[in-house]
Amino acid sequence: MKILVIGSGGREHALVWKLGQSPRVSQLYCAPGNAGTQLADRCENIGFRANDILGLLEFAKENRIDLTVVGPEEPLVNGIVDRFQMAGLRIFGPNARAAQVEGSKAFAKKIMEKYGIPTARARKFTAIDAAWAYVEQQGAPIVIKADGLAAGKGVAVCRQLEEARAFLKQVMVSKAFGKAGEMVIVEEMMTGQEASVLALTDGHTVLPLSPAQDHKPIGEGDTGPNTGGMGAYSPTPVMDAAMEQQVLEQILRPMVAGLRAEGMVYKGILYAGLMMDASGPRVVEFNCRLGDPETQCVLPRLKNDLLELMLAVTEETLDTQRLVWDPRFCLNVVMAAQGYPGSYTKGQPITGLEQAGLVFHAGTSLREGQVLCAGGRVLNVVGLGTTLKNAIENTYQDVAKIHFEGAYFRRDIGQRVL
Ligand code: AMP
Ligand code: GLY
Repeated sequence: MKILVIGSGGREHALVWKLGQSPRVSQLYCAPGNAGTQLADRCENIGFRANDILGLLEFAKENRIDLTVVGPEEPLVNGIVDRFQMAGLRIFGPNARAAQVEGSKAFAKKIMEKYGIPTARARKFTAIDAAWAYVEQQGAPIVIKADGLAAGKGVAVCRQLEEARAFLKQVMVSKAFGKAGEMVIVEEMMTGQEASVLALTDGHTVLPLSPAQDHKPIGEGDTGPNTGGMGAYSPTPVMDAAMEQQVLEQILRPMVAGLRAEGMVYKGILYAGLMMDASGPRVVEFNCRLGDPETQCVLPRLKNDLLELMLAVTEETLDTQRLVWDPRFCLNVVMAAQGYPGSYTKGQPITGLEQAGLVFHAGTSLREGQVLCAGGRVLNVVGLGTTLKNAIENTYQDVAKIHFEGAYFRRDIGQRVL
């Protein structure tokens, strides 16, 4: 089968790596991909951007692609699945209506409230005066979110009312996120450990992947601004088997059933970002895709053929599948360019990749055989271990082998729970 993977991050390199292990895969394409996907077995990068839905559709038709797998949220929210399906092409991911679970936080809240799914108490506003009045009445701490997609920057956890006022202005007056900020959600702050559960679903059956924990802030000890994610590990002790079951029964299944009751058969990955507090797991947010960097530490532990699972999702036969896991811990450390998540330099050569074990590329490019830095998050170094401590040691041994000018990484990935 010929497979097209859309996206260019560490998540997409991990998808190419995992799908490439399926005996049924003859050829992979990645759009636009990175140096890692270009160097991967039987994989070729193609020049289309992830948001070029019509270009990708033409490519998939002309090259008779058997399955397209969408990495990032934007093309999903913009209806890539609807377009491909109308053209009779097989694609993995939710359609535009269902992808609203991530595309509109107000939509996700409405479904959660209607179907009794535990989450933070929230209200939505389209006028700044009303939003501010509510914020003042609730008091700090308080969380403010732009309704639409904002590349992970649309959320402010405000310890003080002044911060909340400034963020509201930024979103609703300065329109920092454009249309995505025409509506804001004001919600209660939750406290506790966070975990990510990425679940496969065909709209009926839900198969949660093993839970992971991300590390969003740039600095050690969870300090500084949020990033796309600086590292992750799986499984995570913050979620035991009983809690996993609870997440399945009280969050994932009711969400998929609720969407179905509203006329949406959700197919693809439903990602639940969770907060574990005294009352149990509650939803921070839903995403309509795999997490990055969670995918890079979850897929190396999955023993199943990922292609078979994805085909089962598209065929609505996921009830015939059972997941099998490598019991070891897997850790993923992101090596970033100096300055990230602010501005950073590109073009530095990367050395030591051959000496390291499993490395998923993110922002890299290839010039005359040399791998260069080409993004903020550059590499994901991945290690396994029988204990979390062991996985941490193995991963950082490999991190030490890799060099590029200005390389930055957190030294404490996985340490939060130890
Ligand atoms: P998001 O960009 O939606 O993933 O949110 C970014 C981060 O903001 C989450 O990972 C949480 O750490 C934090 N966050 C979002 N909503 C809440 C909330 N209601 N209470 C506490 N933290 C939150
Ligand atoms: N790791 C967070 C995300 O993918 O949204």
